[in-house]
Amino acid sequence: MIEVLISSEQIKERVKQMGKEITEYYKDKTDTIHAVCVLKGSIHFFSDLVQNIDLNVEYSFIQVASYSGVSSTGRIRVKSWIDEPIENKYVIVVEDILDTGLTLSYILDYLRRYRPADLKVVTLLKKLGRNSQVTPDFVGFEIEDKFVIGYGLDYNEKYRNLPYVGWVKGNG
Ligand code: IMP
Repeated sequence: MIEVLISSEQIKERVKQMGKEITEYYKDKTDTIHAVCVLKGSIHFFSDLVQNIDLNVEYSFIQVASYSGVSSTGRIRVKSWIDEPIENKYVIVVEDILDTGLTLSYILDYLRRYRPADLKVVTLLKKLGRNSQVTPDFVGFEIEDKFVIGYGLDYNEKYRNLPYVGWVKGNG
């Protein structure tokens, strides 16, 4: 049984606003930003967000694995990495959800080595009450500390294609 936490309409509305916030932030600084999609969970958020940003947006896709099931394995493995130079570019990392921030701080440490002009973080969801290692620059929704699924987020590769964010009753 799945309970809807954030409806498809709410996501759409918020993502549109976030696109505007991001456009506002960058428009006096640059006409082009480089957006890094953190696969697989950010696929839908990334796709919807960049369509709402009124700037030139270059894309990169990276995939790291840190989770197995609902609990962190504590291990981070890089499966694929950026394929475009980002030196002196305005880079925005697009995450699905910020929990401990372990995955993201690892990604950010590595991206900083390429010396981007600016490195910002946007996340659709941020879990409240979690001690995150990363402070995101743009946040879609703050949610309670529950394991959520849908709109790209999975539970053992299931539920990613749900158009809303929800949680499976009985799984935290
Ligand atoms: P962190 O390193 O603890 O911040 O975890 C980040 C990654 O773990 C996210 O990008 C997700 O892929 C996954 N994750 C964390 N919490 C959830 C959740 O509630 N549902 C689904 N995936 C999650």
